[in-house]
Amino acid sequence: MNQIHRAVAIDGPAASGKSTVAKRLAASLGLVMVNSGAMYRAVTWQILQEKIDPENSASVLEAMNRMEIECGVEDGLSTIAINGRLLTTEIRGAEVNEHVSKIASIPEVRERLVAMQREYLDNNDVVMEGRDIGSVVFPDTPFKLYISASEEVRAARRAKDGEADAVAQRDAQDRQRKASPLKVSDGSIVIDSSDLTIEGTVEAAREALIKFGWED
Ligand code: DC
Repeated sequence: MNQIHRAVAIDGPAASGKSTVAKRLAASLGLVMVNSGAMYRAVTWQILQEKIDPENSASVLEAMNRMEIECGVEDGLSTIAINGRLLTTEIRGAEVNEHVSKIASIPEVRERLVAMQREYLDNNDVVMEGRDIGSVVFPDTPFKLYISASEEVRAARRAKDGEADAVAQRDAQDRQRKASPLKVSDGSIVIDSSDLTIEGTVEAAREALIKFGWED
């Protein structure tokens, strides 16, 4: 693990509120917020654009090997571009939601993206959110949070955002896969955001960091 820069790892299921918390925490602590799910989404979007069957791992890998993937930072937030195209709202659509867990279950896809996730720490202090940040990407960081919320609350949050996203099904796939499954990694503090406001969840995250010995 990089000795100079610090990483706050935030894991949790879909729609648990971890992105919002990660963004606010990063802004208040002056860190870069890295959304690792956006990387899996971007690769999935490109695979679908190329009309490749997401179930066919060999074809997915062959296509991914041809992709030029560029990760960056803008206004304190991570960015992702594939083959020179910056990807933003297009990676949030229903089709990507449906197939992203399958693409993320392929070990070689994870290997390439995890390497890029770790590179962020070369130049930045980061808050990184995802599914395997505390367990695989930065297992040695002392700052590990796991943000959860009940299935009902998470489904309601997505519906409120007008998004078609079968979160329960996606979580089941993300928890059951062999490669880096979603789990509470050792040493994490778990925050259940079901009955908390956004501010309340951010406050709980700050308190957890202080317990871990975080110093501004
Ligand atoms: O955080 P999100 O819902 O945008 O992530 C989309 C998908 O990407 C998620 O269903 C599983 C996968 N993912 C992953 O496997 N590992 C990560 N670190 C982040 C996301």
